[in-house]
Amino acid sequence: MKRNIAIDGPSAAGKSTIARLCAKELGYKHLDTGAMYRCVGYLSKLKGIAVDDELALADMMDQMKLDVDSAGHIYLNNQEVSSEIRTNEMSMRASDVSKLKMVRERLVTLQQQIASAGGYVLDGRDIGTVVLPDAMLKIFLVASVKARAQRRIKEYIEKNIPFDEQEVIRDIEVRDYQDTHRENSPLKKAADAIEIDTSDMSIEEVIDEIRGLLKTKS
Ligand code: C5P
Repeated sequence: MKRNIAIDGPSAAGKSTIARLCAKELGYKHLDTGAMYRCVGYLSKLKGIAVDDELALADMMDQMKLDVDSAGHIYLNNQEVSSEIRTNEMSMRASDVSKLKMVRERLVTLQQQIASAGGYVLDGRDIGTVVLPDAMLKIFLVASVKARAQRRIKEYIEKNIPFDEQEVIRDIEVRDYQDTHRENSPLKKAADAIEIDTSDMSIEEVIDEIRGLLKTKS
């Protein structure tokens, strides 16, 4: 049976890109768990629910339909929201709602259900520690704030999303703080995860390192 791979790390460390390429190479599926928290942030904005109203958010999630296709497109209540959830505002809203226990419980359960078939690469903040503690391989990707801001800006330019450079840097720093200091499942390297600092590495170099690590597991 195919097993699962966990990729965690702070925002803009390259997790999604690396997870997607890794999955492609192995014939696995990729699940971007950050996109799921972004959907909760996005839908709560549409519905006028405050990001700290835990009960209202839980109620909203109990009626929310979330689907991801094999190409990584994300659908909220049957409507594609792949680009709407990528703005700076939605990054912050995702980080805000992700602090709440009831929100995390619901998404973690869904992520575990999806991955139970095996053959998944999941990326997020708590995959190695909470979602998939038995993952075959756990990677913890890190990079300097400068390197991460440059990558985020490149992504915004490519996707035609408006941005302000100082705001992008501030957003990374605030989210780092929030994600590592929250009470529920803070961003933390699992004891058995392997850390890779991608600040000065190309995507291909990171994939190469993971390839090498995978060989030691087979
Ligand atoms: O990875 P991405 O930047 O899209 O994640 C958005 C936010 O969702 C993060 O800042 C984090 O607060 C939250 N998140 C989380 N647990 C995950 C994935 C994302 O708390 N597994």
